[in-house]
Amino acid sequence: MTELLRATILHTAANPFRTEGALAFHADGGLLIRDGRIAACGDFASVIEPGIPVTDLRGGYLLPGFIDTHLHFPQLRIIGGLGHQLLDWLELHALPEESRMADLPHAQRIARTFTRQLAAHGTTTALVFGAHFAPATAELFRAAADTGLRLLGGMVFADRLLRPELHQTPDSAYRDGTQLIRQFHGQGRLLYAVTPRFALANSEAMLEVCQTLVREHEGLRIQSHLNENPREIEAVARLFPWAGDYFAVYERYGLCGPRAVMAHNVHPLAGELARLAATKTSVAHCPGSNSALGSGVFPLRRHLDAGVHFALGTDVGGGIGFGMPKEALQAYLVQRVAPEGELLSAAHLLYLATLAGAESLGLDGLTGNFVPGKAADLVYLRPPADSALAASLELAESPERILAALMTQASADSVGQVRVDGQVIHEGGMNDAR
Ligand code: GUN
Ligand code: ZN
Repeated sequence: MTELLRATILHTAANPFRTEGALAFHADGGLLIRDGRIAACGDFASVIEPGIPVTDLRGGYLLPGFIDTHLHFPQLRIIGGLGHQLLDWLELHALPEESRMADLPHAQRIARTFTRQLAAHGTTTALVFGAHFAPATAELFRAAADTGLRLLGGMVFADRLLRPELHQTPDSAYRDGTQLIRQFHGQGRLLYAVTPRFALANSEAMLEVCQTLVREHEGLRIQSHLNENPREIEAVARLFPWAGDYFAVYERYGLCGPRAVMAHNVHPLAGELARLAATKTSVAHCPGSNSALGSGVFPLRRHLDAGVHFALGTDVGGGIGFGMPKEALQAYLVQRVAPEGELLSAAHLLYLATLAGAESLGLDGLTGNFVPGKAADLVYLRPPADSALAASLELAESPERILAALMTQASADSVGQVRVDGQVIHEGGMNDAR
């Protein structure tokens, strides 16, 4: 099956923090898809081949599908719980709602909406915290498979300090984790991620179970939280007196490395940054959540200087919603006013919402931009007629200006189509802006 999509194309061919001119732009672009893979990407005139059907999408914009490196499936309904810091917010909003995941029909309903919302916002790949319950986590994987998403996720492990109904024992976590890995890891577009909630809620026996699972199965990912909030950091220091810092707890149990993603890292020590870089552990930067929960300002420049890789996460439901352009914009806005903030360009924002995420997940050989050979994972943005975004785009001429308009204003109502492996997983209203 070969198809040529014709539209304006934008993607990051490289990391713009390191490479000048990383933003690739084709005003009248062609994306040639063969058997779900990108066969060519360039100016339409250079890509067209005789006899190949052309899908004319002019008037809209083809971008790589967004990649969300941190969010929580059971927290769909608690987006917007403003006014609290992390530990109080967990107590008041997150944990009571997460307890409801014991109810399977509820979990099924939330899983369906959650995965559909990811697709509806143009996200094609996501690293997701499941539920504390194995059956509910299985529903997340099933819903992702039904929706067609690339989903990496896992059952959330905890054995202390939450609520009794959310705790497992290390033995039961090992059994449930093993079963879920056997059922879903490597099936279609699904991968399993070992998911200790955070050091605070996990005994050393539980962290050891995580390490065992990672050792026993090839290709698992790892996800947790790190250095989000000062009260959390103090509590972790009290619980693990032998650990020199927060990250040392995860390192002790091998929960680091190129397949590991730690969310937040708002308050790292210099030594932690050095070791995150040395172990090639990635950070999920969640600017919406960091602001909403008052966690603080992400030290972006310190991450860059230390060579720590980071990408964006929406952190639904501590965050502000599913939209990756909105999340990227939030990163820009916070950095813009932070005392030692970076001035991010639109190309940086696109990179952080796409290719950087693929790199964090070890999937950059497969997705994240339109390099030939990769999967045709894409979002087609088509702003509604009479929208402010459509008006801004009439005037925008440079690639940076077009991309800045999209990253500032594109939300779900601008998503015309979403594909994974070239297969349509979401069709929007196909707004006619012409
Ligand atoms: N740390 C432990 N659990 C959570 C959670 O659900 N959300 C956030 N933002 N941080 C956490
Ligand atoms: Zn989180």
